Amino acid sequence: MPFVSERYGGLHDVLRDAGPGTWGRALLQREHGLSDQSPHVSFLLKANNADRWGALAIGPSKNPSVSQLASPKLPQLDVLAAELLAMNQRLPPVDARLRRRLMATPSLGGARPKATVQDGDDFWLVKPVLPSDIHDVPLLEHAMAQWASAAGLRFAATGHDCVAQLKGTGISVLRSLRFDRKNGHRLMTVSGATMLQTQYPNASPADHLRWSYPRLANTLAKIGAPREDWLELFNRMVFNALIGNDDDHPRNHSAVYVPQEGAWRLAPAYDVVPELQFAPKRLSMMLSQGRFDISRENVLGDAMKFGFASQQQAQVHLDALLVRLADTFESIGSLLTDELRNLMKDRIEHNMKILGPVLLGHNRRPVT
Ligand SMILES: Nc1ncnc2c1ncn2[C@@H]1O[C@H](COP(=O)(O)OP(=O)(O)O)[C@@H](O)[C@H]1O
Ligand SMILES: [Mg+2]
Repeated sequence: MPFVSERYGGLHDVLRDAGPGTWGRALLQREHGLSDQSPHVSFLLKANNADRWGALAIGPSKNPSVSQLASPKLPQLDVLAAELLAMNQRLPPVDARLRRRLMATPSLGGARPKATVQDGDDFWLVKPVLPSDIHDVPLLEHAMAQWASAAGLRFAATGHDCVAQLKGTGISVLRSLRFDRKNGHRLMTVSGATMLQTQYPNASPADHLRWSYPRLANTLAKIGAPREDWLELFNRMVFNALIGNDDDHPRNHSAVYVPQEGAWRLAPAYDVVPELQFAPKRLSMMLSQGRFDISRENVLGDAMKFGFASQQQAQVHLDALLVRLADTFESIGSLLTDELRNLMKDRIEHNMKILGPVLLGHNRRPVT
C-alpha cells in the first residue's frame, strides 16, 4: 500500500531520522556542493552508514554496506576535539587524516559539531565546547545528566573531559554513551519528531501544535513501551521545566528497540541543558493540551496520559520528585564552577516555587 510522506519534501520521517542534522548537512554542503535547497534525500545518500543513527543502512543497492570506517578511539579525544573546533571555525586541519574521516561521517543529527569515538565495545557521541558558548555547555550537560541520574531519571551515561589543546587552554568535551550501539549491534531508533508525526526543524504552525509531552506518552503506549516509560517522560518534562531547558524539541527525545525485551522503549535522555542567558517561561513541547508555559497546573494538566491513576497520585509523585531533585542537587555541586552553581541554584529556587507551591517545608528549603 502506498504511504504518502508529507514532510521533508517527501522523505519518510524515519529516513529523515537517519539523515544528518544541521552540522552534518553543513559539512556535506562544503564537501559536495549541496545547498539548503538540495533535496533531503541527497544529504541522506551522501552521509555515510558508519555513524548513521539507529539501524538503517542506506545506499543505491538492496543491501547497502554498513561501512567499516573505524571511529576514532578514545585516546584520540584531544586531537578529535581540536579537529572539530577547527572544522567549526573553517580552519585548516589539525590532522589531515582525521579531518577526512570526520568529513566522511557527518550522519548524526543536531546542530553542534560532533563525532563518535570508540572505547572497546562502547561508542560515545562527543561534543566540544564552542567559542560562541557563553557558558561551558559540555560541563553543564554532563552535570545535568549526573544530577538527573542521581535523582533516579534514566539519562544516557555521560563523561566530561578537559582535553589538552595544541595551543592555549583545555577544551571542555562532553561524551554521551550511544544507546543505538550495543555489543557490536546497531539498534533501531525513531525520533520524537517521527513519533509525534511532526517536522523538525522548520515546523509549520500546525505542526507545532503536535509537539506535546502527553501526546508523546500516548504514542509510547501505542508502540508498546511500558508504563514506566510514560512516567519517565513525565519526570523528564518536570526536569526540563525545573532547569529551564527550552530546547526540549521533538528530536531531543527518541525511542529505541531493545531486542532482549522485544520492545520499543523510551531511549535514555540526552541533550538536556538549561538556558542560562534568560529564564525560559515555556518549554518547546506542550506540558498539557494547548499549554507550553512552565507551571504546576500545566505539569499536572494531562497527568492521566502519563499513566497516573488519579490527579492526586500525580501530585504526590511530582512533589516526591521535586524533593528528590532538591536533595540530590548537591551531588553535582562540585562538578560546576562557582558561577554555574550559583546560576543553577537561582534557577532551581525560582522554578521550585512555580512547580511545587503546595509543598510543605521540604523543597522550600534553599538549595544548598
Ligand atoms: N547518547 C546518545 N545515543 C544515541 N544517539 C544520540 C545520543 N545523544 C544524542 N543522540 C542523537 O544525536 C542527535 C544529536 O545529538 P544532540 O546531543 O542532540 O546534539 P545537539 O546538541 O547538536 O543537538 C540527537 O538528536 C540524537 O538523534
Ligand atoms: Mg539536540
